This record gives sequence, structure tokens and C-alpha cells, in this order.
Amino acid sequence: MKVDKIYSEPVESPKPFEFDATVAEVFDDMILRSVPGYGSIQETTLQLTEHFSTPKSVIYDLGCSSGTTLIELGNSKNIKAEQIVGVDSSPAMLEKAKIKLAQYKLQTSVKLKCSDILDFTTSNASVVILNYTLQFLLPESRSTLLKSIYKNLNLGGIIILSEKIFSPNPELQKLISKNHTEFKSSNGYSSLEISQKRDSIENVLRPLSTQQNWQLLESAGFSQIEMFQAKLPFVSFLAIK
Ligand SMILES: C[S@@+](CC[C@H](N)C(=O)[O-])C[C@H]1O[C@@H](n2cnc3c(N)ncnc32)[C@H](O)[C@@H]1O
Repeated sequence: MKVDKIYSEPVESPKPFEFDATVAEVFDDMILRSVPGYGSIQETTLQLTEHFSTPKSVIYDLGCSSGTTLIELGNSKNIKAEQIVGVDSSPAMLEKAKIKLAQYKLQTSVKLKCSDILDFTTSNASVVILNYTLQFLLPESRSTLLKSIYKNLNLGGIIILSEKIFSPNPELQKLISKNHTEFKSSNGYSSLEISQKRDSIENVLRPLSTQQNWQLLESAGFSQIEMFQAKLPFVSFLAIK
């Protein structure tokens, strides 16, 4: 795994964060060192998908990046669906996913699709995974996407949603931010790397609160919603149709 050094040299003003070839090259290292609980989200995503996938249905990973989740799912002997589809708008990320997937003899076939998830319609879905991706959409587009996912989900199907959140309580938000900085620092990122990445991603990743995400799921049509992991500032929800 190539080590993320993207923000290690000082620049006058970091350019807005993009999932381009430079990021794709180090993404697996970046996400592990930046997202507390990333490993356990992969494990739980697999467990939930094994449980809720149904024969002849399709599993979607929207914002599949370099294919980490797709490989976990594709390698499982307990997935009941007939097809797994990974969707991402970054050709560089999908190229990485393609190379990684080619190293395995998968149990379930995995298809990759280069598309904006707002232009993509799921169909015959038993499981839709949206881990750390909704946060990159304009807030006004999130509800449209979740409504379309709900509409096209089979009865008994699920969405797994993981998001960075902010707390509306300023004191708590300060503490959450401090803990997140400490997490990144304990994973070897320097203060310069942390602050330059923060400046770069600030207007690209727009977190909502836990409650706002919950409300988005409810207004999309979901009535059975559980939070299954909170490693602040990241929260994961399971919602069942
Ligand atoms: C933080 S990564 C997701 C990580 C991945 N789900 C995982 O668990 O490893 C966000 C991904 O969403 C993709 N993305 C962001 N906005 C998108 C959009 N509108 N349509 C499709 N993909 C998008 C990015 O290219 C990136 O690969």
C-alpha cells in the first residue's frame, strides 16, 4: 500500500480536494489513517450484506473507490445476490479497483460502472452501500438520491450509510475535531498535512449532523433505521425497507 504524502510539503493554497490519480494512488492508506473505525465498517458491511442479500438480486456499492468493499463482498461465500455493482465517478479510482479485483477469483461477479451516482439508477437491489460518499454531494442532492435508492430497493432490502458528521453543539464539535486530529496525528500525519488536507477538503466534503442524516433517511421513506457504529466524527446507519 503506497503511503499518503500528498500534503506533506507546504503549498501556498492547497487546491480543492479531488479523487484524481494522485489521490487514487494512496487512497487505501489515506482512508485507513484518516477514518476511525474504517476496518470495522468493512467487517460490518460484509456481515450485513451477507445477511440481507437475496438470491437473484443486485448489491450496489455507490462511491466504491478503489474497491476495498467490493473485494470483501466478492470473496465471500455467503453472499446470496447474483451480481455486485460498484459505481464511482472517478476513472482513476475505478482503474485501481479493476487492478485490485483482478487479483482475486471472486465468488460473486463484480461489475464496475463509471458514473455520477446522481445519474445512476439502482434496480432489483437487496443492498445499497453508501459508505463515506453521500457527504460529497451537494446537500440538496442527497435527498433526491436517497429517495431513488429507497424506491428501487426490494422489500426487506437495506441501505448502509456511513457519513462524517458535525455536532450542532459548538463545544462538542470542538472536542470531536480535536479527537479526529489526534487520531490522524497518531497515525503519522504531521500538523502541516492535517491542516493542508483540512483546507483542501473543507468545501468539498460538507458534513450534516447525525440527526439531519437520520431525517434524510426517514424522508426518503425508511421507517426502520438503526445507528450501528459511531466513531466520531463518523457515524454509520442501517435502514431497512
Ligand atoms: C471517501 S470515498 C468512498 C470510500 C469507499 N466507499 C470505501 O468504503 O472505501 C468517496 C468516493 O465517492 C466518489 N464520489 C464522490 N462523489 C461522487 C458522485 N457524485 N458520483 C459517483 N461517485 C462519487 C469518489 O470518487 C470517491 O471514490
